[in-house]
Amino acid sequence: MEDKMANMRVQELSENTNGFPSECFIQKESDRPGSNLAISTIPVIDLGNLLNSNDPEVKAEEELKLKSALNTWGLFQAVGHGIPNRLLDEIQDISKSFFHQPMEEKMKYFTTELEGYGNDKIAFEGQILDWMDRLYLQVEPENERKTRLWPEGPTSFKETLNEYSTQLKPKVDHVLKAIARLLGLEECYFTDQRKDNGTAFVRFNYFPRCSRPDLVTGIKPHTDVTEITVIFPDQNVEGLQIYRDKVGWVKVPILPYAFIINCGDQMEIMSNGQCKSPVHRVVTNSEKERFSLAMFVYADFDKDLEPANNLIGEGRPRLYKTVNGLEYFESFVKDYYKGGVRTLDSM
Ligand code: SIN
Ligand code: FE2
Repeated sequence: MEDKMANMRVQELSENTNGFPSECFIQKESDRPGSNLAISTIPVIDLGNLLNSNDPEVKAEEELKLKSALNTWGLFQAVGHGIPNRLLDEIQDISKSFFHQPMEEKMKYFTTELEGYGNDKIAFEGQILDWMDRLYLQVEPENERKTRLWPEGPTSFKETLNEYSTQLKPKVDHVLKAIARLLGLEECYFTDQRKDNGTAFVRFNYFPRCSRPDLVTGIKPHTDVTEITVIFPDQNVEGLQIYRDKVGWVKVPILPYAFIINCGDQMEIMSNGQCKSPVHRVVTNSEKERFSLAMFVYADFDKDLEPANNLIGEGRPRLYKTVNGLEYFESFVKDYYKGGVRTLDSM
């Protein structure tokens, strides 16, 4: 039975058991999503005001809001971003169409690597799996795309993903520049930490219906490795939750056509702790399946990862050791499967 399950995607398991999770998905009690959520307001940033306003006061106010959001939540909802609703509808549509195809079709893109179609890789015996299937693809730089893993179906998949990533890229650069300015760094500090024109991956997430959302996680509590992550969440079904110290777990509500942008560990380290890399998780739904899309924007893995010199000084002790970028990523992935939230290596 266990062997057979290892060869099945969560979607099939859910279909076979009417959404009931088998043992390998049942989280330890301490990691199960409780229903006690804290009520707190997630910051909303208008990127139009932040990046394009001609009124210095409007701009300054939005910058202050962003600075506070990054320092407390490490996450915000982004409106006024200028990506057309039409494209956001299309990207959700190709995700649904892809996951709704017969398994045989999707398995053409299955790999045992991180990239491609699949669910949690089994790294050790007794591992607790997330209730999620995914399609993970590199989008930047363009010449590193593994196009054989880009699905042929639906027919508009490649074109839509290419348009999405091409339109999002300059927005990401603008946000990274705004963050650098806020911290008093050279505008290009974070964009220049990336390789060539930047490394970005997208992950289409599919959370099948689960009859016991109290026992499983769609994505277990974790931080991201990234500089920033840009999420386009399901527009009808909530699922993302963020943990805030002294507050508890807070759900990120659906704000139509808004992106959710969070900092990752790379940003927390480089900003010497001024930007938080928040712990977050995804919970499942007993009635509905859910789709989301995350874009992971990474600093160059070949470089050392360390706090910016200008952010260390009087009254601002250095908080993190220098780590090798690739080693950090690899140890993160190993720890991820073990569960339990990783904490950043502080000095
Ligand atoms: C993610 O962080 O990859 C998923 C976010 C979400 O499903 O809302
Ligand atoms: Fe994440």
